Amino acid sequence: MPATIAETLKLASERLRAASVPSDVLDAQTLLAEALDKDRTYLIVNFNEQLGEDLLAAYFSLIERRSAGEPLQYITGHQQFFGLEFEVAPDVLIPRPETELIVEETIRLVEECKLAAPVIVDVGTGSGCIAVTLARELADAKVFACDISTAALKVARRNAARHDLETRIEFIESDLLATFPENLFADFILSNPPYVAAHELPTLQREVRDWEPHTALTDNNDGLSFYRRLLNEAPAKLKPGGYLICELGYGQSEAVRAMADSATWSEVRLLDDLQGIARTIVLRR
Ligand SMILES: C[S@@+](CC[C@H](N)C(=O)[O-])C[C@H]1O[C@@H](n2cnc3c(N)ncnc32)[C@H](O)[C@@H]1O
Repeated sequence: MPATIAETLKLASERLRAASVPSDVLDAQTLLAEALDKDRTYLIVNFNEQLGEDLLAAYFSLIERRSAGEPLQYITGHQQFFGLEFEVAPDVLIPRPETELIVEETIRLVEECKLAAPVIVDVGTGSGCIAVTLARELADAKVFACDISTAALKVARRNAARHDLETRIEFIESDLLATFPENLFADFILSNPPYVAAHELPTLQREVRDWEPHTALTDNNDGLSFYRRLLNEAPAKLKPGGYLICELGYGQSEAVRAMADSATWSEVRLLDDLQGIARTIVLRR
């Protein structure tokens, strides 16, 4: 049965609410806009438009996926990060706004240190959101993007190509910095590592726990393993005065700060996110 945009949205929001989807109205609108290949304003302006049966069938199959807990971004296939559009797929973590702090701080330090052609390494690149954004913002930077996941690197490469930056980024399949070129030293090593402790996994939102890749979420240990390794392995790969900048999980800042010995790191700072949570650690060799 054909129905108007307004009637369809009402039905879809009710279906999502019944399935405990938190942002039911917004998600119903976003998915209908996606199905129609329009923006959300179109839905408001044309709320009396009749939708055909094929469109409705396609739309309600998206609503069923969302009702089953699949994240909106895996259904639409994209997510914004630092004002850029990124492809996302179940092989990669969905970029989060708090990760933009790493990008902002790196750009600020490149300017402050007046670095002409900084060498930047993004460890655990996932969708490539950090590497691609920095390659775009810093025209003379040489950017490396590493990940242990072959599938994630494919998505990251596509995101670089999407923004015409594939010649500016070198993609390396590597266990952290293990296969990073021996004779190359970085100004910045950046990482948003898997930091969820194994015992916290069951407490995560179902969208995260059941759908995002576990290699991107957890170290299967206490959540701190990647910081221990990065603080240990990064100094040998950094230029003197170079920076290691990592995202932190909630409540991890003091434990990670305590790992930084003053013989190796001349400066250790924490940056808060918009909610006042210590979200990023900046260490200078
Ligand atoms: C939290 S995600 C971050 C993805 C992306 N940088 C972002 O901020 O959205 C962590 C990434 O680290 C990768 N990873 C996990 N273990 C790794 C390892 N031992 N070496 C390199 N990358 C690893 C995962 O595949 C995943 O892409």
